[in-house]
Amino acid sequence: MKGTYSGFRRLTCMIAALAIVCALAVVPSLSPRGAYAAAEDYAMMTAFVGADETQMNFNWYSFRRTTEQEQLLQIAEGEAGGVFPGEHDEIAVAGALSEGKVNYYVFKASVSGLKADTQYVWRVGTAGAWSETCSFRTLPSGEGLRFVALGDAQIGTNGDEVSDGAAWQDTLDAAAAVSPAFVLHMGDEVESFGSGAATLPQSEREYEQFFGARALRGVPFAGVIGNHEVSKSNWSEHHNFPNLSGNGASSSAGAQSGDYWFVAGNVQFFVLNSNVKDDGVHAAFLAEAAEAGREAYGDRIVWRVAAMHHSLFRGSTLYEQYGEEDIAQRRQSLSATFTAQDIDLVLTGHEHIYTRAHMMRGTQPVPAEDEKRHCSVLPDGEILYVTLGTSTGNKVFGVCPEAEDAPYIAAMYDGAAPQFTEITVRSGMLKLSTRSAAGEEIDEFTIYKEDPSAVYPQIAGAEDIAVGIGEAFDPLAGVSAADAIEGEIAVSVEGEADTSAAGTYELIYTAENTYGNRTQVRRLVTVTEGGGCSSSAAGEAAWPAACMAVAAAAALKKGGSARRKIINK
Ligand SMILES: [Fe+2]
Repeated sequence: MKGTYSGFRRLTCMIAALAIVCALAVVPSLSPRGAYAAAEDYAMMTAFVGADETQMNFNWYSFRRTTEQEQLLQIAEGEAGGVFPGEHDEIAVAGALSEGKVNYYVFKASVSGLKADTQYVWRVGTAGAWSETCSFRTLPSGEGLRFVALGDAQIGTNGDEVSDGAAWQDTLDAAAAVSPAFVLHMGDEVESFGSGAATLPQSEREYEQFFGARALRGVPFAGVIGNHEVSKSNWSEHHNFPNLSGNGASSSAGAQSGDYWFVAGNVQFFVLNSNVKDDGVHAAFLAEAAEAGREAYGDRIVWRVAAMHHSLFRGSTLYEQYGEEDIAQRRQSLSATFTAQDIDLVLTGHEHIYTRAHMMRGTQPVPAEDEKRHCSVLPDGEILYVTLGTSTGNKVFGVCPEAEDAPYIAAMYDGAAPQFTEITVRSGMLKLSTRSAAGEEIDEFTIYKEDPSAVYPQIAGAEDIAVGIGEAFDPLAGVSAADAIEGEIAVSVEGEADTSAAGTYELIYTAENTYGNRTQVRRLVTVTEGGGCSSSAAGEAAWPAACMAVAAAAALKKGGSARRKIINK
């Protein structure tokens, strides 16, 4: 990827040429503009997840200042802020006149060959007229993954897209604070519905708010098409997804409305256009994508997550409004398809209130969760369905009494608080934590691939140690914890060793896994005038006599051994 910019375009990256068809027969006239400010000519710069950690897709708009239809995308390893790196790669991208956003070109690009879990910066434009600098971190390639999912923003619902945009931005800021690998939105990004003449300009104002959120300048995006977007052609202008399938595409919304998939960490994601009720096409897509995932990634894929707009197991008043028949067909056939492809989790939206179903076997609830621990062990064939609530507070439907009594409902939240769900994935666990933008806890649930009740963290590197007076000592240096389900686990330490005064100090290290099993290790730190010595480095036989004497005295004083002790709770 890296290279030195020499004034020539470096075509080391894959360029995805634009395939947007411009339907406008008449080129609109330019609006008069004042002093030219280059950065203002670029809008909605968004990095979309690529097929995996090696790829990123890009989408942006540029004001039609000139007749230029080609721009440069520059990309380099680096952190946001400061001067754009002199060493970078550069690709040329052709744009097409936007149908939806008058007087703007829309650009799409895809860059491959990226390093996993690495920070990059990017900008677009032409020499002397560059956009702002945006950034992203590539997806992880290993076991750990954290991402955030948000339900319908539906910007414009209140007739004021600016205030809706502010609410969306606030929620997204709270979600971005957990440093997610990417943002997944569950559809109905905007309110404007249908394909009438007035719809596109209004929806563009709404899209400007949606993709204008500052958090999207630094975190990759993945999206799901909703029912409010399916009739408008500008869905395909605004999105740039990887591994797109012809299956599931709606002709009104264009190629970007098709089902697609990608891999992040040890998870394969399958994204469906649930506006298309012909479930045969989704079944075909899932089968092909799952096979492609197995071929390309093998045993790396441990979890399979599906995402779509419509909820199969829902609880809002939409249930009352449209009845069971609106969803019955999708529920029957898609649940069977998800089971056939070994899907673990299905994320949906559309209801504007949060609903977690029981673990489902097909369409049958299997309420075997450990509600005290808010978790379930996931046997083959069971799936967790979670419907995400509003991310802006817009159009909050109430809980339908009929649905409340439905046997599949495990948890519901009908508050209007804008909310998001943080999803943490490890080798054997997947945890969902749903909170309001203000920090109120809404729901928490974890699914495990195996029984976690007897799995405790192991703490390493906390052996007793001797330190010379005045020597530096970091109590967490070299200390780590892990277990067989979650892998690496955070360790905390209580107590302090005063290295300015001889003596023996006790530190307590604690590691707790997601299930709540906790391990503690006691460590003695002996501060001695005789110089530093470590039991882990050379063994006690090599300790200076002074270390041994102080350690032995400390052990006697406490009435026990000075060796480490493991306490499981
Ligand atoms: Fe919807």
